[in-house]
Amino acid sequence: MKILLLGSGGREHALAWKIAQSPKTEKLYIAPGNAGTAEVGENVAMKADDFEAIRGFVLDRGVDMVVVGPEDPLVKGISDYFSADARLATVAVIGPSRAGAMLEGSKDFAKGFMHRHEIPTAAYLTFDSSTLQEGLDFLETQQPPYVLKADGLCAGKGVLIINSLDEAKAELKEMLGGMFGEASQKVVIEEFLDGIECSVFVLTDGKSYKILPEAKDYKRIGEGDKGLNTGGMGSVSPVPFATEKWMHKVEDRIIRPTIEGLASEGIDYKGFIFFGLINVHGNPKVIEYNVRMGDPETESVMLRLKSDIVDLFEGVANGTLDEKEVEIDPRSAVSVMLVSGGYPEAYKKGYLIAGLDEVKESIVFHAGTALRDGQVVTNGGRVLALSSYGKDKEDALKKSFESAKKIYFQDKYFRRDIGADL
Ligand code: AMP
Ligand code: GLY
Repeated sequence: MKILLLGSGGREHALAWKIAQSPKTEKLYIAPGNAGTAEVGENVAMKADDFEAIRGFVLDRGVDMVVVGPEDPLVKGISDYFSADARLATVAVIGPSRAGAMLEGSKDFAKGFMHRHEIPTAAYLTFDSSTLQEGLDFLETQQPPYVLKADGLCAGKGVLIINSLDEAKAELKEMLGGMFGEASQKVVIEEFLDGIECSVFVLTDGKSYKILPEAKDYKRIGEGDKGLNTGGMGSVSPVPFATEKWMHKVEDRIIRPTIEGLASEGIDYKGFIFFGLINVHGNPKVIEYNVRMGDPETESVMLRLKSDIVDLFEGVANGTLDEKEVEIDPRSAVSVMLVSGGYPEAYKKGYLIAGLDEVKESIVFHAGTALRDGQVVTNGGRVLALSSYGKDKEDALKKSFESAKKIYFQDKYFRRDIGADL
């Protein structure tokens, strides 16, 4: 099978690494990819949301399957674009329709969906500029911290958690005044949930689903979970508190009602669902849905997935996922992100990366890298994900931290406490 994977981060390198291992993969293209994906497939200089260029490439090369890494092309409707085009309609797209992608593309839609299907989540109300005063009055009735969420996609910056009432009111005014452009025309104000987070992933063909290994992500830049939010500084799988009993609650209260809810609303969904969960006194609640895999969770999860991912994707595309088996590696897998100094604020790109060949005990997934005159250079905030297996997480973490020492680029930074809270 000829497969085109869209995206360019660590998630995509991990997916590409896994797809390339399948005997069903005849050819793997990654658009646009990075210096790491070029080692397992062929990079194509094409933006992940340039539908016309993608169409031309798919027809020209006879691509059979398109796997969508990031949310953007999904929210923009790439799956519908393919199914509406007679010449593309037979190409399998792993990723939901635009309607399905609303689970991530609109917080208000996601909250309404959970409400309709009685899926546990934080209590909420949604406001727009015409109901600003009601929003301000509502904040007065709430307890701090206040959680404000821009409705639309904001590249991970649309959620504000604020302790002071005055500040929360000011931010609400700013958001509805256009702080995030169209994405904050509506703002969801929700109850603050206190607990520990866990990312749960499923693949679905719209009827049945398969649960993939869960993972915990470390979002803050600083050790001890301090400082600004990032895309994610590391991940660990499995997650100790995600016991069999807890996962049964997740499946019964959250996963199954979500799949059935999508079907009952006539929403076509073939792809990944990422449930961002929080454990509140032993009970899982949904913080957010994403319609793609997590990054850097994928860099741990792919290590633990033993089944052929392309075979699973075929099940998704053909509606035969129920016939497939998901086999999971019992070992632990972790991933530690090396980032550019300054990230998630301003940072420099283009520094040479040395030591990649010295890493033997970890799998190096590239996130923000590029090739310059045949050499690998930094090209993003998150640069490399060092993923390792271990008999337990401590064993795996030791390997990733050892590997982290072997790699050099100017202003390299990483968190040394990944997994330490579990
Ligand atoms: P999101 O962009 O929706 O993933 O939110 C970013 C982060 O904000 C989440 O990973 C949580 O750590 C935090 N968060 C979001 N909603 C809530 C909530 N209702 N209560 C507590 N923390 C939250
Ligand atoms: N690691 C969180 C995310 O991918 O959104």
